[in-house]
Amino acid sequence: MKALREAAKLLAPCKSLVVFTGAGVSAESGLATFRGAGGLWEGHRVEEVATFEAFARDPTLVWRFYAQRREKAQAAEPNPAHLAIAGLQNLFPARVVVTQNVDGLHQRAGSRDVVELHGSLWTLVCTCCAARRQDHQVPLPLLPPLCPRCGGLERPGVVWFGEELPPEAWSRAQSVCSQADGLLVVGTSGQVWPAAGLVELASHCGARVVEVNPAPSALSSLAEVHLPLVAGEALPSLLASMEELRHAGI
Ligand code: OAD
Repeated sequence: MKALREAAKLLAPCKSLVVFTGAGVSAESGLATFRGAGGLWEGHRVEEVATFEAFARDPTLVWRFYAQRREKAQAAEPNPAHLAIAGLQNLFPARVVVTQNVDGLHQRAGSRDVVELHGSLWTLVCTCCAARRQDHQVPLPLLPPLCPRCGGLERPGVVWFGEELPPEAWSRAQSVCSQADGLLVVGTSGQVWPAAGLVELASHCGARVVEVNPAPSALSSLAEVHLPLVAGEALPSLLASMEELRHAGI
């Protein structure tokens, strides 16, 4: 495909590559995207269970939603797109993954430098003292656990609608995006801010932008090359093409 070669040529010479991902990169691992298939969970709109207000009103319902997401994420395997993205770290002096996903599949595929903008399913945070801890229990208990430090109610360590992004992750994401000379955007609708603004920031600061998404997104107009393919097909081919260019000294 011509666009694939064009994308490889655009990104291969880059020194500092950021891969910005959304739910689409995990779709081929069997994890549902947010805006696909109606975005419903047991008859609730996802936006209605992913808020602090919903947790305050009905912690058990919201907890059950995240317990199920954790079970699905654990049962899922990284797909060829996650693996190819991990492979890119051997080609570029700097390669950072900035993800909106909370499933941990980039790390399981071997990506070392991953910035999690929307938190993680594998972290719990105390609603009282804000202590964070890693937790890999599956299945989770039916009720939210109590903080081992202060006894407060724990919540999933993910960012809910209306909440700020974790400050450290957000400032690192802004920093790497403003310094990148290449940005590969994979599987995001680009509808959720402030994360989506990173693409404009990188482009404004001079990064060449390539997008992989079978459908046009809110970010497509910022991409020099749009690859209308699923990530599991596009990424391994893109990686192979860039490896060839590197070997040829281009
Ligand atoms: P969306 O569900 O909004 O978008 C998924 C995108 O992936 C769409 O543009 C699809 O066309 C594309 N897609 C689907 N299958 C694909 C495949 N196999 N390969 C490549 N692309 C594919 O998900 P996000 O953009 O990640 O936030 O949503 C952003 C945020 O909205 C999420 O992190 C979450 C949600 O509310 C929070 O929970 C804070």
